[in-house]
Amino acid sequence: MATEQLENLGSEDAKWLGKYSQVHMNVFGTPLRVMDYGKGAHIWDVDGNEYLDFLAGIAVNALGYAHPKWVKAISEQAAKAAHVSNYFATEPQIKLASKLIELAGAPEGSHVYFGNSGAEGNEAALKLAKLYGRTLPGASPAIGGKPARIIAMTHGFHGRTMGALSATWKPAIREVFEPLVPNIEFVEASDDAALHDAFAETGPGKYGKGPVAAVIMELIQGEAGVRPLGADYVKKARQMCDDNNALLIIDEVQTGIGRTGSWFAFQREDLAGGVVPDIVTFAKGVAGGFPMGGMISFGAKLSALFTPGSHGSTFAGNPLGAAAALATLETIEEDGLVSNAEARGQQLRDGIMACGNPLFVSVRGRGLLDAVELAHPCAHAAMNWVLEHGLIVNAVAPDALRLVPPLVVTEQDIDQAISILAKIPTDLPND
Ligand SMILES: Cc1ncc(COP(=O)(O)O)c(C=O)c1O
Repeated sequence: MATEQLENLGSEDAKWLGKYSQVHMNVFGTPLRVMDYGKGAHIWDVDGNEYLDFLAGIAVNALGYAHPKWVKAISEQAAKAAHVSNYFATEPQIKLASKLIELAGAPEGSHVYFGNSGAEGNEAALKLAKLYGRTLPGASPAIGGKPARIIAMTHGFHGRTMGALSATWKPAIREVFEPLVPNIEFVEASDDAALHDAFAETGPGKYGKGPVAAVIMELIQGEAGVRPLGADYVKKARQMCDDNNALLIIDEVQTGIGRTGSWFAFQREDLAGGVVPDIVTFAKGVAGGFPMGGMISFGAKLSALFTPGSHGSTFAGNPLGAAAALATLETIEEDGLVSNAEARGQQLRDGIMACGNPLFVSVRGRGLLDAVELAHPCAHAAMNWVLEHGLIVNAVAPDALRLVPPLVVTEQDIDQAISILAKIPTDLPND
């Protein structure tokens, strides 16, 4: 870490960050602060400075920090059995899978696979889609068929493991690892003609490609700067998948678990009450800060394609994580946090546009997954400025700040954040 950067920090922060960079691989850059403890939407660093946290561990800490119900659930489960392996089952894991199927409104016969992160949820979804692809006419290897394809979106983000990365668009993070998983293609997000053309490439003859096994998309592209896909496009994509026997995989790692004002973004009202996916992936908020991810496979027929040995992970469905997730989901339900996400999100977007800061051009997003578009590309300087003034946000694009507070965020927290954002100087240097 540069000496001048350390000079701006408190002595404990500087001491620990100096050590951090000596022993950690430099994949995350230098952390902004060394954090100590939190309560609700607030967190304190090792020098005792307090911050209002509108990043929430990147849309993870649904209940904020140290929520008493979450702490109780995790402590009680830790005192019983933290981990048992998948040679055994546990009650929390079974209850959690049932609850997720119920919240997703998935039909009878739907099944859950648990992993430990969003990327792993997507790995599982892509593997299931590959098995499904082999069942499509024209794709069967047994008859010399052409391998089925998976279509992903430009600007989409699905994780950094090799499979998930193969479906992740950003060339700067993907291309140096190529060749990756074959037969994954990108189409322009929100362009239904492009998706139509991609399906149409399926066919016999030398130039025809294999059938499409699945289309994978986020309904709001979070990492790309909180870019929502239009309802019309999503409905058309669902229809094209139906017409071509392809699966629709909706990645709800960032949008799911109440963050966008419904349990899952595919349930939102402008999709005519919902576009039903074939596979939904989840992670981030599900266990309120305990690492967990996974997928819900809709219906019995698709779910039956995974058989013993198809997939797995040592920690998958671990009871400690399952207890944390059950406490998270129960609290979201009991405390009405899905509607809080909707109401506080509206308050946040309205307040930002009304605050009169000429740096703010527009605000986009749903519920508590939002981004402010800036008049010039100074997002990093703006992020650092608000941090110095006690607010944590994230420079998600050179000209956009992402705001993803915990679902427990209060009206006063939102007012406080707006009052800090309103004062960001307009003449900050560009990134
Ligand atoms: C939509 C989406 N999918 C997948 C991932 C990967 O999740 P993880 O970092 O837990 O592997 C992310 C992470 O930001 C994400 O936003």
